[in-house]
Amino acid sequence: MSQVLTRRTFLKTSGLATAGLALPWYACTPTNRPDFTVAFLTDMHVRGKHDAPLGFAKALKSAMAQPIKPDFVILGGDLVYDSLHQNQEEVDVQFDLMKTALDENVDVPVHPVLGNHDCLGVYDDSGVDPDDPLFGRKYFLDRFRFDKTYRAFDHKGWSFGLMDTVNTDNRNYKGEVDAEQILWLDSVIERGNPTVLAGHIPFFSNYRESKDGGTNADHPKETVHNANLVTRSFEGKKVRMVLAGHLHINESWVYKGTEYANLGAVSGRWWHGPRDGCQEGYSMLEFYGDQVRWSYVDYGWEPSEEAKADNTW
Ligand SMILES: [Fe+2]
Repeated sequence: MSQVLTRRTFLKTSGLATAGLALPWYACTPTNRPDFTVAFLTDMHVRGKHDAPLGFAKALKSAMAQPIKPDFVILGGDLVYDSLHQNQEEVDVQFDLMKTALDENVDVPVHPVLGNHDCLGVYDDSGVDPDDPLFGRKYFLDRFRFDKTYRAFDHKGWSFGLMDTVNTDNRNYKGEVDAEQILWLDSVIERGNPTVLAGHIPFFSNYRESKDGGTNADHPKETVHNANLVTRSFEGKKVRMVLAGHLHINESWVYKGTEYANLGAVSGRWWHGPRDGCQEGYSMLEFYGDQVRWSYVDYGWEPSEEAKADNTW
């Protein structure tokens, strides 16, 4: 269960108090109660199998019932099980199940981010023609009635930038932020507010290195290949946190005052159980002054025996 940690409790549980270490900025909370909270739910991969709609609904109910109710919800992408290999008929079923769970369980604003699996028919085997008016990211735009796949808004003195980190050129995908969006991102940061950014594919990750060895490079599908260019303008600015999903595990890294938090999945290992030890869950963001901190909530999902035994992706 998640709990709102007081600074004293944080120090105790982290061991930092006894170790006498200098605290990173994000560990110092000026008050015990956050100014507000936000729920970040990512990689729900909803479809009509393995009780995925029930699981997503359970996660949403849990988030709405937190001791401090979130002001809004950010969905980190991969909202549906898969659109890359599927035609519209199949994706419509998945999307409607996902949307119904949202409509029935959330009464605060919801801000979805585009995931790679939300892009319709990108792979050849989908049978979807690239000239289809809903091909790729256009399906996401149409269903949510958005003009763009990236957006920003301000809330209680903070700026939130919701990014599109998925390139779907050449009937494939890779992690990328395009030039137009980099300019837009700079304008969001220049507002001068403490800022949280969220995208689906992480900018950086140490997951590959931790699994396979320290010299292993990330796969182009795992991280944003031009993240060095995207983050160049972060230095000296108040980009407090960059949220991502995609990897279905929890890891974070702080560099030059920005925390890069790649967070665990509502679906765990695509509804077959935990992913590499990371339970099915979501994250609560707690805002204190111009600082933010996340904690992971295991909402108690137990997959059926059938789901656990299913070794397909
Ligand atoms: Fe995913």
